[in-house]
Amino acid sequence: MADVINFAHRGASAYCPENTMAAFVKAIELGATGIETDVQMTKDGQLVLIHDEQLQRTTGSPKLVKDATLEEIKQMDAGSWFGPEFHGERIPTLAELLELVSGTQTLVNIELKNGVVLYPGLEEAVIAEIRRFGLSDQAVISSFNHYSLVKCKLLAPEIRTGILYMEGLYEPWEYAAGIKADALHAYFYAVLPEWVEQAAAKGIVYHPFTVNDSVTMRRLVEAGVAGIITDYPDRLASILREAEE
Ligand code: G3P
Ligand code: MG
Repeated sequence: MADVINFAHRGASAYCPENTMAAFVKAIELGATGIETDVQMTKDGQLVLIHDEQLQRTTGSPKLVKDATLEEIKQMDAGSWFGPEFHGERIPTLAELLELVSGTQTLVNIELKNGVVLYPGLEEAVIAEIRRFGLSDQAVISSFNHYSLVKCKLLAPEIRTGILYMEGLYEPWEYAAGIKADALHAYFYAVLPEWVEQAAAKGIVYHPFTVNDSVTMRRLVEAGVAGIITDYPDRLASILREAEE
């Protein structure tokens, strides 16, 4: 149980503006052992960490990520929407996050955000960055776009992949094995203890998202999941400490 990965969803997004360096640093301070983030591509082909396809909600810019250059994006304030004390936080590049975890044990769950906007070359670019930092063992690539996961596995068999889904899929571990994925990133309702066991028999682990209440966290830890994705890594850290005692 102690080894359950505590993935901070978009960093410690309950306490800091999501997908900023402040949120990632805070996550580690609060006991996260992994960081989940969302990656997209700028107009000039740079990898940036942001959830929405449009910059509006977190920066106030009406532009789409795909239509803005990195230079433009780096001028935007991605912190003030959350609180004045975060004024001046920037949208990070993937490289900035990889630099932060480089030389540590912290895992990174990089979610390819290519469901609405398709970014040609996104898979290749993300894999190249992971390899450039020598972090293949510390990375899990996930996506709701399962074609992308198949592509990633073909390009980089050494990097783990996680299937994101919301539905109550039938025997998803069979599907996972079929596309050579390593993990099921299931919406947390779609996880029962017997399924965790059956998946494990196939070598497939569960990393459910996004679990913020302690009761569900405990239930999933007891069910034997390998990791949990949460906005509150402090809550999960304390449950994992209890479980160790
Ligand atoms: O990776 C888990 C979770 O982040 C998937 O949904 O919309 O928060 O990126 P979303
Ligand atoms: Mg995500």
